[in-house]
Amino acid sequence: MCNAFFGFKESPFNLSPDPAFLYRSAQHEEALANLIYGVQSRKGFIVLTGEVGTGKTTLLECLPDYLYEHRVEFAFLFTLRIKPEEMYEMIAYDLDLRCNRSSKTEIIDALNDLLIQQANQGYTVVLIVDEAHNLAWEVLEEIRMLGNFENRTGKLLQVILAG
Ligand SMILES: Nc1ncnc2c1ncn2[C@@H]1O[C@H](COP(=O)(O)OP(=O)(O)OP(=O)(O)O)[C@@H](O)[C@H]1O
Ligand SMILES: [Mg+2]
Repeated sequence: MCNAFFGFKESPFNLSPDPAFLYRSAQHEEALANLIYGVQSRKGFIVLTGEVGTGKTTLLECLPDYLYEHRVEFAFLFTLRIKPEEMYEMIAYDLDLRCNRSSKTEIIDALNDLLIQQANQGYTVVLIVDEAHNLAWEVLEEIRMLGNFENRTGKLLQVILAG
């Protein structure tokens, strides 16, 4: 009823983060610009931190627009009470890796192929991890190792850790 009264097209105060409603404060603009800069310059690891409810997830939801536009492949991890093998499965699913998705070695092999192939074409690949502070140590360690993929121009996988 209030939507009709106020002429809203959608219900306000939705709990799920919607990038269309991101209020781009100076800090949010700067954070988004830094995420994009970090990806472009192949820094390897990029960290986004902020107080609870300050819009980190909403900001991350804005990133795919940029990534799709620039043909950058990415995987988005957000359920983090996971085991390392589940993380690999999620990455394989998001990046559409053609391999046996229950085999860590096959996934790493297929990921390596994708990273090299993308790098040869001048592209990079991004792994976005929200709620990274909740990661189990073993998963964090696996992510650290994924950061080791590199060639002489820089890191092949850009990892964004938000939390
Ligand atoms: N800059 C913003 N513009 C629009 N809405 C925002 C902004 N910042 C936060 N919100 C709103 O506040 C709520 C929490 O935002 P969000 O989930 O993105 O925060 P968060 O930093 O990821 O929080 P948490 O630390 O709990 O994960 C969401 O409903 C979101 O729509
Ligand atoms: Mg969040």
